[in-house]
Amino acid sequence: MATYDIRIIGDPVLRQKSQLITDIDGALVRLVDDMLETMYEAPGLGLAAPQVGVQKRLFVWDTGTGPRAMVNPEIVESDGEWIFEEGCLSVPGLSWEITRPKLVHVRGRDLDGNEISVEADELEARLFLHELDHLDGTLLIERLDEETRKAALKTLRDLQLGGGRQPAPPVGDGLRLL
Ligand code: NI
Repeated sequence: MATYDIRIIGDPVLRQKSQLITDIDGALVRLVDDMLETMYEAPGLGLAAPQVGVQKRLFVWDTGTGPRAMVNPEIVESDGEWIFEEGCLSVPGLSWEITRPKLVHVRGRDLDGNEISVEADELEARLFLHELDHLDGTLLIERLDEETRKAALKTLRDLQLGGGRQPAPPVGDGLRLL
């Protein structure tokens, strides 16, 4: 197994829509192993393929129930509203309170090609919505209201993030990153 460098905001790969996966093969299984190792090392709770530069509709996660991967995920249904201090491994050192649905039903495939269907709430629901956004090239700052987003972009400029190449600053205060 090996770890990837996590792509940072400013890297164009984070803004592109990922492709559906048509073959679940050995290369994909290796990719998942390496993404999981990268996620645990970061550490984060979830990691989407574009964050390691791969434009495939795939993410891995572990919210305490062990390592899992979902291929070609889609949201079946979402409901409610929940505010959560959300951070992203690709936007290091920063987090914002973001409102998203509280409950979500997500469907996809596991690495054996079997359909998996997960109904989640709160943190796990948040994780799914966040990783699904990554697969569509959307970062969490686009989920902020206009005023907060402008301030966030200024903060990113001030930190000289946004070039896609800077090493990540250390992550503080135990924030669980997605
Ligand atoms: Ni993220």
